[in-house]
Amino acid sequence: MSQWEQVEEYLSSRVVRPDDQLKAIVAATGAAGLPTIEVTAAQGKFLMLLARISGARRILEIGTLGGFSTAWLARALPDDGELITCEYEPRHAEVARANLAAAGLMDRVTIQVGAALDTLPDLAEAEPFDLFFIDADKVNNPAYLEWAVKLSRPGSVIVLDNVVRGGTVLDPRGDEAVQGTRAAVDILGSHPRLDATALQTVGSKGWDGFALAVVL
Ligand code: SAH
Ligand code: DHB
Ligand code: MG
Repeated sequence: MSQWEQVEEYLSSRVVRPDDQLKAIVAATGAAGLPTIEVTAAQGKFLMLLARISGARRILEIGTLGGFSTAWLARALPDDGELITCEYEPRHAEVARANLAAAGLMDRVTIQVGAALDTLPDLAEAEPFDLFFIDADKVNNPAYLEWAVKLSRPGSVIVLDNVVRGGTVLDPRGDEAVQGTRAAVDILGSHPRLDATALQTVGSKGWDGFALAVVL
């Protein structure tokens, strides 16, 4: 285990302390054969705390996978809160639904199955969301950011995952995921309605990072 992973294990076991319900989601997601690319427990708890600090009552997530980040976020909601999460793969949505039901969270979670760019327009008339977690196909990150702004209110929080990807974000001729991330980074830095930062992370998921923005 790398020293980064050891430190993460140390901090995660002493500070983050994911309970059995959360650990079960990671285990069941892997056992179902889904990719093991969910956020770390430390990042999941960071998302939960952000949602709590910002008093979020309505959360929109893009990219559900097995529902691990969804569960952290949903736990921050008040009883009458709502989380909508968009997932392209029906099989992922099915695994997530089972995981979130087992964790007692399906009373506040709705999974929208389909390509997010096809299902997001359904939310155009909905009440604004307080917090967004964008973590799906990176090529569409610019479009997802624009949707988040559209579905927000001043003060809404946006988190965009995986903005570093082992440093590949530096390559202007990188693959389409890199291109999407670079375009999103440019939007974060220049959008008239966003004020943002981006932080690098190391740990069990290697070297990566996320961006955090507030809607003006
Ligand atoms: N947020 C999850 C991990 C998401 S992984 C967690 O941390 O626990 C990215 C997910 O985005 C995958 O499940 C993938 O199927 C989904 N995805 C890919 N393209 C998508 C699209 N166009 N619309 C919605 N979801 C998409
Ligand atoms: C990948 C996607 C993610 O959302 C992530 O957190 C890590 C890796 C990927 O597509 O490889
Ligand atoms: Mg991610």
